[in-house]
Amino acid sequence: MSRHLISIDDLDRAAIERVLDRAESFEEVSGREIKKVPALRGRTVVNLFYEASTRTSSSFELAAKRLSADVVSVRSTGSSIDKGESLKDTVQTLSAYDPAAIVIRSPHAGAAQLVAGWTIASVINAGDGKHEHPTQALLDVFTLRRRLGSLDGARIWIVGDVMHSRVARSDILAFRRMGARVTVCGPPTLIPRDIEALGCDAEATLNNLHEADVVYVLRMQHERMRDSFVPSLREYAARYQITSARLNPGQLLMHPGPVNRGVELSGDAIDSPQALIGEQVKAGVAVRMAVLYELLVGSPMLMAVA
Ligand code: NCD
Repeated sequence: MSRHLISIDDLDRAAIERVLDRAESFEEVSGREIKKVPALRGRTVVNLFYEASTRTSSSFELAAKRLSADVVSVRSTGSSIDKGESLKDTVQTLSAYDPAAIVIRSPHAGAAQLVAGWTIASVINAGDGKHEHPTQALLDVFTLRRRLGSLDGARIWIVGDVMHSRVARSDILAFRRMGARVTVCGPPTLIPRDIEALGCDAEATLNNLHEADVVYVLRMQHERMRDSFVPSLREYAARYQITSARLNPGQLLMHPGPVNRGVELSGDAIDSPQALIGEQVKAGVAVRMAVLYELLVGSPMLMAVA
């Protein structure tokens, strides 16, 4: 990687730490009454979202605005994408504005990489199908580092629909790179067979959940399921739903949102003080400011894996 952030694989541990340290300084900006710095004044950031998004799109928009960039946000509904314009043509059209960065979310794995080949802008992957979602992983690491001081030796369980989750892929890579031990857990139909190649363990039941310091719960990705992967949501919830009763008092609870309340997480767990879900959302702005800053103002080459 050089100018782009497509995958967590683009970052080594030092690069991740640099983004997190930068994000800490932007957190301070977010605490001010006037939450703006001039770093990207006069530069343009295009947000191109071909898939539903609340948190990621709003936080990228806020992040770019707090860096004083001009921001153009294009959603697939209501744009010419609706009229059948191809991704390549849309990117070329928007490139006429000479953006410094294009943030892209797409239902297709590999879309961000393709866009990087069609523009001179820096491309940031905001989620490509079930492939990767690197800024989510960075904000998750940021949130955990703030709580734990360091991820070294932390035991993190990722529970749920790992198969269809780009968050799981990026998180496994990032958590491992930061020294954590990762276990994925879910029904065997929702755990990819080669997942251990990413350096994590796999469990089919919650029996050993007590081992975890952090329980990271994933949403059931209905939109990516062509077949029935679980007999019923009720049965899934009975075996895998994370409830307050299933958590130990010291365990931290995370979820990337949006939550299917009552499916993968119970209402009492979501609302418990162990849940970091609100902190994750808040971290999203500072971390995305840091990513934009490092790519566009910092030394992008430094973000590269050696
Ligand atoms: C995730 C996504 O879109 O991949 N959400 C997010 O970005 N916060 C997770 C999900 O949709 O389940």
